[in-house]
Amino acid sequence: MTSPAELEACAPAGTFVETVTSVTHYTDRLFHFHMTRPSGFRFRSGEFVMIGLMVGDKPVFRAYSIASPSWAEDLEFFSIKVPDGPLTSHLQQIKPGDAVLMRKKPTGTLVNDALVKGRRLYMFSTGTGIAPFASVIRDPETYEKFDELILTHSCREVAELKYGQDLVASVKEDEMLNELFDTSRLRLYNSVTRDPFPFQGRITDLIESGKLFTDLDVPPLDPACDRAMICGSAEMLKDTKSLLEQAGLTEGANNRPAEFVIERAFAG
Ligand code: A2P
Repeated sequence: MTSPAELEACAPAGTFVETVTSVTHYTDRLFHFHMTRPSGFRFRSGEFVMIGLMVGDKPVFRAYSIASPSWAEDLEFFSIKVPDGPLTSHLQQIKPGDAVLMRKKPTGTLVNDALVKGRRLYMFSTGTGIAPFASVIRDPETYEKFDELILTHSCREVAELKYGQDLVASVKEDEMLNELFDTSRLRLYNSVTRDPFPFQGRITDLIESGKLFTDLDVPPLDPACDRAMICGSAEMLKDTKSLLEQAGLTEGANNRPAEFVIERAFAG
């Protein structure tokens, strides 16, 4: 891997060169890393940015949701490992001290600004789609805007749930965060599709059957008070969006806040 000094010399214009500070491998398909945050780099919780490496003499970039909240000192990302993925086949080898490229402009729709105020915020995620919500659930603004936060994370295997479970546990235990907002208003709902687990099935099936709401002991989706952010594969977005629309919720955007927003979980 390249050191930050070596990368500075060949980095494309308009990119930051940052240093990896920690790497955690969760499964053979998922890992998570922290890196330094450039001074002056601003983003809204839930946004994504382009992350890259030099592969040979060419920069290779992919979009990554920033998993840290907008106030954090460092930047945190959650990645899949695609064996022959143009970026992740290399990125999965990074170690503390290595250099990573980051383009300067963050963007995205999974932000508080794109939703109108409501009572309950659902964050529906599958796989690495949980990453933007790791940011949103640590932002005081989310707790100001919504009374109750429900993060759903559905994965193929039980081992893939660990990142989200550790994250929510750390939010609930964090003294500083608890001084800022009441983290008991945050709930995590897990389901698994390819391993035995007490909560089984795709999130779409659990919404459609109503089991999700029964398990959580909340009323069915209601456009008057429920808001949602969705992040997963293209198919998951399409199917979940259609269920929310059937329930009467309207899709919003940064320039047109409404009742739910979607963003594809990135891969490659
Ligand atoms: P399944 O195991 O039935 O494919 P992936 O890692 O492929 O992104 O999948 C993450 C989770 O999303 C898996 O539990 C997978 O279930 C589920 N999933 C895949 N497609 C959809 C969909 N169209 N709607 C809801 N969940 C989906």
